Amino acid sequence: METLIRNGMLVTESSVSQADLLIRDGKVAEVGSGLPLIADQVIDATGKYVLPGGVDVHAHLGLEMFNTVTSDDHYSGHKAAAFGGTTTVIDFVSHDAGSLQENIARWHEKAGDKAAVDYGFHMNITRFDEQIGRELARLTEQGITSIKVFTAYNDRFRLADQNILKAMRIAKDVGILTMIHAENGDIIDLLISEAVLQGHTEPIWHALTRPAWTAIDAAVRSFTLSAVSGAPMYLVHMNTAAEAMQLAYARSQGLPVMGETCPHYLFFTEDNLRQPDGAKFVCSPPLRQVKDQRGLWQGLSDGVIQVVSTDHCPFFYHGDIAIEYEGKPFAVPGKELGKNDFTKIPNGIPGLGDRMPVMWTKAIGGQHLSLTQFVRTHCANPARIFGLYPRKGCLIPGADADIVIWNPEKEVEYGRQVSRQRTDYNLYEHWQLKGMPEKVFLRGKLIVDGEIWHGGRGEGMYLHRTAGQVI
Ligand code: URP
Ligand code: ZN
Ligand code: ZN
Repeated sequence: METLIRNGMLVTESSVSQADLLIRDGKVAEVGSGLPLIADQVIDATGKYVLPGGVDVHAHLGLEMFNTVTSDDHYSGHKAAAFGGTTTVIDFVSHDAGSLQENIARWHEKAGDKAAVDYGFHMNITRFDEQIGRELARLTEQGITSIKVFTAYNDRFRLADQNILKAMRIAKDVGILTMIHAENGDIIDLLISEAVLQGHTEPIWHALTRPAWTAIDAAVRSFTLSAVSGAPMYLVHMNTAAEAMQLAYARSQGLPVMGETCPHYLFFTEDNLRQPDGAKFVCSPPLRQVKDQRGLWQGLSDGVIQVVSTDHCPFFYHGDIAIEYEGKPFAVPGKELGKNDFTKIPNGIPGLGDRMPVMWTKAIGGQHLSLTQFVRTHCANPARIFGLYPRKGCLIPGADADIVIWNPEKEVEYGRQVSRQRTDYNLYEHWQLKGMPEKVFLRGKLIVDGEIWHGGRGEGMYLHRTAGQVI
């Protein structure tokens, strides 16, 4: 089966040029001008951009946390991703009771018959001993080449710095990248207990008890851990300007360190938590200030921050009121769990489907990023860093034909209905966006055609990743 996409503007991480692209047997077969019109199917992409499918390396699907579960599973989350132009999603295996292997097997059971785009797993490491160290050393056999550790959430997920160091040494030896959630758990826990004693209940206290310096401090410790171990490190959900500056410094010193930020840190501030519906904006690390937004944009455009991911971790705002999803009612407990207690608000924000459309309008339209930088930060860099390149994230012959035909003229009033995330709210409700995905291919199959969904449960493929690159 051959599909020819004719006459589009192909956007790669380094160029924008008019060309045809031939898909054969699920792969990019040829790219060039004037390819012969002999394919089974010919699609005219005149006036459209042709991009590699997006790669989102930070999502939480079917995650049981905060006394509930994220409202998107591997089907609904993947479907929303596809409508937003993302065709590869990596989410995190929780380190619950049992061996790492048992937890991974459970995650495969969760995802396997639901996945609608291609997917991989990171492994959370939230306990550490010699046995876990031995298992960690063999994760690559299962196609898992990245772990996430936490410097916060004491008594739940946090590892002591010594244990992070031990884990990083092993990770380095076997080609695994360590991702760090950087917040100072000790200080945060004290501030939370004091705020609770003083009777504070409102969502803003989530941000006030996790001040920016607690993130900056932990980020610097993360660079230290990379320096001491020599292991590559990737700072997740960067949220402050100072982290970006420190990352620039650490990179200038030759450390193998990289990082991502997420759209919500670029568009919202802690003031949003003061709104009556502030719980919608509760995530960890929390939203910061306008000066941080500026520093993060700068970091992205300078290449100091390599990736835009979503940290998609959706919880309902009114978990007691069902929405309709694919014709059936759906509800799951959410932010209302913290109605009278900010410490019980599930931490997390939806964004998997929003990332590419919102960033297209605001990053390219807002002149923060060029088209090639957009593809670099949303497709190529995440694929490279997480061991998927050149299979994903590019339009090079031989790559999977994960392709988005992007209509730069399409204007929408964005929001929950457009995004398709299985949530009862959207942070970008009523935003006017210009530029949307029109057709999305997964390994050559057209899975999104305008408003129509041709994808299916279980059609996504598990990606057995190799060691990523430090870029
Ligand atoms: O608020 C967030 N980010 N929840 C998800 C867990 C995490 O730390 O990424
Ligand atoms: Zn995190
Ligand atoms: Zn996360």
